[in-house]
Amino acid sequence: MCGIVGYIGSGNAEKIVIEGLKKLEYRGYDSSGIAMNFDGKLVVEKRKGRITNLEEALEKASYDFGNCHLAIGHTRWATHGAPSDVNAHPHFSMDHRIAIVHNGIVENYLEIKDRLIKEHGIKFVSETDSEVVAQLLSVYYKGDLEEAMFRAIAEMRGAYSICAIAADEPDRIVATRKDAPLLAGIGNGCNFLASDIPALLKHSREFYLIENGEVVVLTRNDIKIYNSEHQPVTRDVFHVSWDADSAEKEGYDHFMIKEIHEQPKGLTETLERRLGADGTVKLDGIHLTKEDIEGFDRVYIVACGTAYHAGLIGKYAIEKFAKIPVEVDVASEFRYRDPFVDSRTLFIAISQSGETLDTLAALREAKSKGARIMSVVNVVGSSVARESDDVFYTWAGPEIAVASTKAYTTQLMCMYLIALYMGRVKGVLEKAYHDRIVEELRAIPAKLEKLLEGEQVIKNLAKELYRIEHVFFIGRGTDSAVALEGSLKLKEISYINSFAIAAGELKHGTIALIEKDTLVVALSTQDRLFEKMLSNIQEVKARGAFVIGVAKEGNAAIEEQASRTIYIPECMDEVTPLLTVVPLQILAYYIAKERGCDIDKPKNLAKSVTVE
Ligand code: G6P
Repeated sequence: MCGIVGYIGSGNAEKIVIEGLKKLEYRGYDSSGIAMNFDGKLVVEKRKGRITNLEEALEKASYDFGNCHLAIGHTRWATHGAPSDVNAHPHFSMDHRIAIVHNGIVENYLEIKDRLIKEHGIKFVSETDSEVVAQLLSVYYKGDLEEAMFRAIAEMRGAYSICAIAADEPDRIVATRKDAPLLAGIGNGCNFLASDIPALLKHSREFYLIENGEVVVLTRNDIKIYNSEHQPVTRDVFHVSWDADSAEKEGYDHFMIKEIHEQPKGLTETLERRLGADGTVKLDGIHLTKEDIEGFDRVYIVACGTAYHAGLIGKYAIEKFAKIPVEVDVASEFRYRDPFVDSRTLFIAISQSGETLDTLAALREAKSKGARIMSVVNVVGSSVARESDDVFYTWAGPEIAVASTKAYTTQLMCMYLIALYMGRVKGVLEKAYHDRIVEELRAIPAKLEKLLEGEQVIKNLAKELYRIEHVFFIGRGTDSAVALEGSLKLKEISYINSFAIAAGELKHGTIALIEKDTLVVALSTQDRLFEKMLSNIQEVKARGAFVIGVAKEGNAAIEEQASRTIYIPECMDEVTPLLTVVPLQILAYYIAKERGCDIDKPKNLAKSVTVE
């Protein structure tokens, strides 16, 4: 989704901002732009399409970039108004004296726009909600951009992070946020703004996280933060431990395949930090007492996309190990259905970015009704993390590819650990069973390495299958939840029409769609459901399907039924999702590659969805 970068210093502002925007390409965008201050004259260039289009335009215009030390840039993911040069950011005020970039949505923009047209004769040029911010600032601007910003945000509703510059103030950038991420990067003789850390990692690992309602003012040597009462606030420096390399491809063709290969490492990190010397689970960052856990009569797990799929496995784990009923819901539905939540509810939000607006809104809804809020988050210091009572980090490292892989498996690991912990503390999980599961979890990273060594087999399969247009993923038990994730991976990066369904449910309608050569991926990793899956495979084969069976090593009977087989290493049924999903990620990746798709930046998708 939209990205923001700002720079003020003595270096080449255009170069630094464009470089930063490129680091945010992974979030998904359809146009980009930059505003620069050349000695009191504002210049804006913006183009539909990739950042290279913007670079070409900048090159053609041949500005004296050595003379520009302040710039703000933006990558836009269209909400109000189609992707076009004119709707791209930055937006100018009518007099071209103020320029802004904006992430999020100004919900009452029509009302403000109407008033600005009627009372001030302002002429709007774009179809965006964002342009009202520039126009509103110019109406309030009396030589002090900071003051104008406070007046403007008092009128705006919605979610936003905004950076603004004024022609008459070539020595500062003024920014603000509400429910959309914004951080200030601390440099040496220069300072930065961004919506996302990877944009700035090359220049800084020290940040101030800006809070809702605050206004931040950047000069070359200073960063000042003001609260909504205009009072200066002091903020602790937030230090990021990853380096710029973690956000680079390091020889891989795409971030997605790099991140698939990083899963053993991510899982080891997520697990080993949480195991005590005696092998019991310790939950750093979570302060649930025995009384707290005994007091919960239900758990809601709420998330979006891939994180929601991780929540489905969380339900199996918590119900099995901790014996508490769990409901899993997509955040956009949960918040509008008046869910039954009270102080006996444990609400678990799962989010890679920690900025997904629907998840954040669902969290607030649950909080307002008295629930205890726990979150499983990858991005440290993100909004979901900050608004939770307890945070359990996934330690996957930065995930850049839009299609989530290592965040999913580390989210699964977190759900297992939370469930094991609650089961033990509550006294409903036998120590011997707990220890066996922990042992199984510990063995997962090595098994995954082995699985990844066999990548070539799946690559060959992708070469054989990449022209297909319809795929069904089926499975039983936890496999039915993994089927949803496998299907999502394939459709989001290869644009193949893919559908997942619990195998037992096939015969109630979907089997009508199976015909000669329809591809069916049959996940058959659950020992106790294996024979039932063999019957389901026979049912689809009888109607002409081409079946890829996924089973544990040793269950060779599947080869008699399936057209092709992928094996995962032997493990207990309870932990198979951590392994089963990986061949599906690899299959999706190589099929998309064979089809020539833009894997890390799939069309219409965004990494972090900060609008409803
Ligand atoms: C977007 C991304 C998905 C992600 C979902 C939830 O749709 O493209 O990969 O699963 O948002 O994101 P979150 O950051 O909350 O996990």
